[in-house]
Amino acid sequence: VIFKSAIEASQNVAQEIAQLIRYKQSSNELCVLGLATGSSPIKVYEELVRMHKEEGLSFSNVITFNLDEYYPMTKENRQSYHYFMHEHLFNHIDIKPENINIPDGTVTLDKLNQYCLDYDKKIMQLGGIDFQLLGIGRTGHVGFNEPGSHINSGTRIITLDHITRIDASSGFNGIANVPKRAITMGVSTILRSKRIVLLAWGQNKADIVKRTIQGDISADVPATFLQNHSNTTFVLDQFAASEL
Ligand code: GLP
Repeated sequence: VIFKSAIEASQNVAQEIAQLIRYKQSSNELCVLGLATGSSPIKVYEELVRMHKEEGLSFSNVITFNLDEYYPMTKENRQSYHYFMHEHLFNHIDIKPENINIPDGTVTLDKLNQYCLDYDKKIMQLGGIDFQLLGIGRTGHVGFNEPGSHINSGTRIITLDHITRIDASSGFNGIANVPKRAITMGVSTILRSKRIVLLAWGQNKADIVKRTIQGDISADVPATFLQNHSNTTFVLDQFAASEL
């Protein structure tokens, strides 16, 4: 779906999320949301916060799982995705703190494997993710599933691609300070979501959007795995869609 502007597109996506939350509320069910960081989802979060404040949208039945976190990374660090999510969403809504799940960048290496298995297990025990929001990196990563990520991969630690670290460098005062690794939800974890919406804005995403939607399905561009998912929508602005 192509919108004129990212704002209009984000408002539409936020509406869909709000509708799902309300529907689940009306049947006394939990709503399991998979959430993304980066600049792409910021306006969706702004709109959800507005709906909470002005329209009484409640997040009391919402449980969230974030896609990824740098590793190692403390929660207090302003560059952490933990900090980002609280700043842009969680601090402004009525979600229960115990319902927030973000990969923990402080888990020691010896415990990490089990930690990742438990992250996936928790999602599956809740019946899977109802709605997964995604951005896309210029390498074709979703979450931090960099090129080479297997379609069956679960949540795990991953080495970040050089391009990803260049793109993150402005937030870290130079590439030398960008962590070399991250914890990411796996491709298979993402693909098990009942509904997926991938956001991409701006001309600098046009090339990877084209390769993702029109290219061959391959681990070289992990986002291409979404082509076979039965309920995925790519929500683009006119610039990100300009090479389709
Ligand atoms: C990071 C995140 C991804 C995100 C990507 C794109 O790498 N781990 O989940 O999709 O950035 O970021 P942006 O939305 O700022 O373009």
